[in-house]
Amino acid sequence: MRLKWVTLLAGLCVLPWATANAAQFDIVPEPQHVTAGHGVFELQDGGRIAAPANARAQWIAGFLRDKIKQQTDVDLKIVTTPDEGRITLRIDPSIKGNDAYRLDVTRKGVVIAAADDRGLFWGVETLRQLLPLQNETPPTIPAVSIQDAPRYAWRGVMLDTARHFYPVDFIKRQIDLMAYYKFDVFHWHLTDDQGWRIQIKQYPKLTSVGAWRKEADGSRYGGFYTQAQIRDVVAYARARNIMVVPEIEMPGHTSAAIAAYPELSCSGKQITVPTTWGVFRNVDCVGKDGTFTFLDNVLDEVTKLFPSPYVHIGGDEVPEGVWADCASCQALAKEKGLQGEAGLHSYFVKRIQQYLAGKGKALIGWDEIMEGGMDPNAIVEIWRGPQEAAKALANGNRIIIAGPFYLDTPIDRMTLKDLYRTDPFDNPLYAKHSKQVLGGEAPLWSERATPLNADARLYPRLLAISEHFWNPDAHDWNDFLLRARGQEAWLASRHVAYGPEDKDIVDYHLSFNPTYKRWRLRATRGFDDLRLHYTLDGSQPTAGSPSFGDVLDLYAPATLTVAPFRGDVQYQASQTFKMVPNLALGDPVTFATPPSARYSGDLTDGILGSQYNDGDWAGWQDADMDATIDLGNPTELHAIDARFLQNAQDWILLPRSVSFEVSGDGKSWTTLKTIPITVDPNDMRPAIHDITFMPPSPIVTRYVRLVATRYGQPINGIQTWIFSDEIIVK
Ligand code: ACM
Ligand code: ZN
Repeated sequence: MRLKWVTLLAGLCVLPWATANAAQFDIVPEPQHVTAGHGVFELQDGGRIAAPANARAQWIAGFLRDKIKQQTDVDLKIVTTPDEGRITLRIDPSIKGNDAYRLDVTRKGVVIAAADDRGLFWGVETLRQLLPLQNETPPTIPAVSIQDAPRYAWRGVMLDTARHFYPVDFIKRQIDLMAYYKFDVFHWHLTDDQGWRIQIKQYPKLTSVGAWRKEADGSRYGGFYTQAQIRDVVAYARARNIMVVPEIEMPGHTSAAIAAYPELSCSGKQITVPTTWGVFRNVDCVGKDGTFTFLDNVLDEVTKLFPSPYVHIGGDEVPEGVWADCASCQALAKEKGLQGEAGLHSYFVKRIQQYLAGKGKALIGWDEIMEGGMDPNAIVEIWRGPQEAAKALANGNRIIIAGPFYLDTPIDRMTLKDLYRTDPFDNPLYAKHSKQVLGGEAPLWSERATPLNADARLYPRLLAISEHFWNPDAHDWNDFLLRARGQEAWLASRHVAYGPEDKDIVDYHLSFNPTYKRWRLRATRGFDDLRLHYTLDGSQPTAGSPSFGDVLDLYAPATLTVAPFRGDVQYQASQTFKMVPNLALGDPVTFATPPSARYSGDLTDGILGSQYNDGDWAGWQDADMDATIDLGNPTELHAIDARFLQNAQDWILLPRSVSFEVSGDGKSWTTLKTIPITVDPNDMRPAIHDITFMPPSPIVTRYVRLVATRYGQPINGIQTWIFSDEIIVK
């Protein structure tokens, strides 16, 4: 391990680079000043941690004792007499700066000093990073002297628990990791279109209705946090120097609340909790007083649960046009002299802001809250770009920078290296308004993040982000990379499924080889030691299931379920590939008009598609689908099954009709049947439809032709598509 290696060099005390090089210590974020010392401090059972007698200092000492025990198996005792400890936590008012601390490790002992308990806790987190990762006897800590303080006070991570639900244990584990890397704000995105996740006692339907959605496959998805669970998380975070800031989205991203209480919207229409992603036209009606009664009551309960002096109200992505069609909203605009819909948005935000101010809370909102004018006391979270930051700063507002740290960005578009090497705070405007720049936040939106793959989106990128938030002088990529890799060993020891630095965890490609009659799943892996464990019976693979590395070959149709593991840690959700028997397997298909180049999946590869962009679908936008299969020989067939996709969100509709034809010579055709289909362009649920023809008695034929006529009418000016993934001849 690096640390051990460094310790050895420091012990020998002959090599010039054994001193004063911060990279010898795998500490992230890099402390502001690090000086290597001589020798090591040995941890011994029965040793003492001395800490001030107050409850908070004693808690921090207990936390350190527990972590040392967990990692090194050494048992220490806590005392309050300062001179008795070889590890000492000490309040020292001469240490200046919020969150600042000093850590001195010598052969004789360890001293963590800070002006207050916040600094003591960060010093403890730094000390933890110096503990040996592997068992040594006795465990040692390298001598070092560190003086440290953060660059920004606001070092946040946001987790969207609405699109996907994350259990309390998952959140506490992330809070532990955040504290280890000196983040101090957990922004808890608790409500959105697809789910309301916080219990509100005055409005039980928010969680009995709004926390649940019926997925396309009929399953019920959801969950919520009880008020007791929220109090528990807040206290857990607070003990770790982390403030929890709740986000209750309004006036947009409110479909789940409106599904529970339809009177909140302008139309009052009953809706269901959406199962798809995007911006919805279900927004709070600004013109009805009842909307504010509801929101005030909700905020009454929210502000009691969260001691944070801030409440985030979202405010982003509001389709304000909805208010243009609402008599109540328009009447309010007229009465108050508001300028258009932006005026209504601004009125809404200011009214909520005043309500919160009455409870001693400052309002935070995404940068759209500036639309129509904004009070300078609001805090603006910048996501759309530095031009929005410039507007907010000019208006006198405080800001939090989030846009450059969006963790839902795919890793190949935000590699660890790019993220580290670009410092988004390096902007003269921010220097000029430095008092208004509170810091930054890394949001994880969860449309595609679940408890199974979130670790890899958060880590290792949060390591780079922690350094931007903490240390203005940390710019040396090579140095950082060594320290980050040192951290990865520790993260692995905590079973954190951190991702690759610049690649996906795994990309799959399944294909059928007609010559060998073989399906081959090829896996491009982000780690060489990643193993793909699989099952063939539809069950979930475990670390004990059979596995492969690059390639798996199958010679019979199967339902293949694959999941990536390193050791016994699963890195993301499993993926299922369905292969089916088909008399036309591997047979050539010709088209009157070939499918689009982008969607040109093989119709006789025996592979069933799932979503429109998984590579299995053939698509036509400007023509009907007219496909002919040559079975090679006269073949007895009992059924022909064609599969089509309806995915109206992406302009993919079922065909209006499907006709099945056969021919012995490929020239003269007999139409067996034409099946008409009722197409509903407003049915937004993605679904795959089987259109099957079964002749009364088996037919012997060589050529099978299928003509699917398209819907043919543009929707919102865009021509619609036909998508098919397989023609199954039985
Ligand atoms: C956002 O990403 N809509 C704040
Ligand atoms: Zn309205």
